[in-house]
Amino acid sequence: MNFRLTLFILIAFLMFSASCDRDRNNPGWDFFPDMFYSKAYETNTGNPVLKDGMTEQTPVEGTIPRGMIPYQYAKTKEGMELAGKELVNPLENTAQNLQRGKEVYDIFCIHCHGEKGDGKGYLHTSGKYIYPPASLVSKKMLEKPDGEIYHSVTLGFGLMGAHGSQIRPEDRWKLIMYIRNELQK
Ligand code: HEC
Repeated sequence: MNFRLTLFILIAFLMFSASCDRDRNNPGWDFFPDMFYSKAYETNTGNPVLKDGMTEQTPVEGTIPRGMIPYQYAKTKEGMELAGKELVNPLENTAQNLQRGKEVYDIFCIHCHGEKGDGKGYLHTSGKYIYPPASLVSKKMLEKPDGEIYHSVTLGFGLMGAHGSQIRPEDRWKLIMYIRNELQK
């Protein structure tokens, strides 16, 4: 065989086998070690400076994300009544807010509570969700203060799940505005 071809195959084979590594955690050669190995402590590495030896520290108790307002009513009957007394819709009744309220309703509520808010949403009428969703246009709901509906949406009610983590506070109020001004009309 041609000598040069043999040499080429040999070198190619050596390069091929040297590029493999049994240990996948080893990156192989470090070209820029000062960039590979950070001088600063990494989040999940140990730390000799801090008392518990960990870089990542648990936030101080009571810490909340910037801009977040914690919901302060308990998921009890009393909590709901208190929310009903103290919480008022801070938003103005505008076409834009109502439009947003409809969007939120159509995304998060319509499949259970129905297009008209009568509890006849597709999930229930199709027999997939057997427990009947409450009517949002009943006499009971007409008399309920906004704050109590806000409470049910935020923390859930009975068999209905909580929506506090999915719907922003201002969107919850727009939603209630929509229920009041369109569905309950
Ligand atoms: C998966 C189905 C489902 C979804 C989605 C859902 N609900 Fe409900 N909802 C229910 C059921 C079921 C009940 C009755 C719960 C019970 O009586 O235990 C209920 C009850 C309620 C009540 C009645 C509380 C009371 O005081 O009687 C309100 C208000 C309400 N839902 C509003 C909403 C709003 C607003 C949305 C959209 C953000 C929504 N729900 C989404 C199923 C759902």
